[in-house]
Amino acid sequence: MSTTGTAPRSTEDVDWDALTAAATEAMGRAYAPYSRYPVGAAALTEDGRTVTGMNVENASYGVTLCAECSLISALIASGGGRLRAFVCVDGHGAVLMPCGRCRQLLYEHRAPGLTLLTVSGLRTMDQVLPDAFGPENLA
Ligand code: THU
Repeated sequence: MSTTGTAPRSTEDVDWDALTAAATEAMGRAYAPYSRYPVGAAALTEDGRTVTGMNVENASYGVTLCAECSLISALIASGGGRLRAFVCVDGHGAVLMPCGRCRQLLYEHRAPGLTLLTVSGLRTMDQVLPDAFGPENLA
């Protein structure tokens, strides 16, 4: 899902409560009948859109899509761009750390200075995935 809005000028301009609420709303639409562990994710793009995603599980467990996968699909489907702020939540609406694979997904589509709301507070992409492999390695 994607909505339009005013592009924040800096991380201080990010309404983290609203972004967390968007992640929690998305979590409510998760398809997680196997783990019963719904996850929701929300992010702001550089041009002010809010994109969201939720986990989508599968009877073939390994095929499961994390909430971040859905979010990145929503990002691309709604016009692409880069992520400035991100949060994901568990089934209680509590902030959750993105799994390692999904940190890689977020890294690919980060804006400079992408900030994540984490269990340790605000962290940069570089703090949650230091020395990352990325597109620049393939250039
Ligand atoms: N999950 C996510 O959606 N994102 C994460 O970053 C962590 C894990 C989902 C995958 C699976 O559907 C459920 O949480 C339990 O692992």
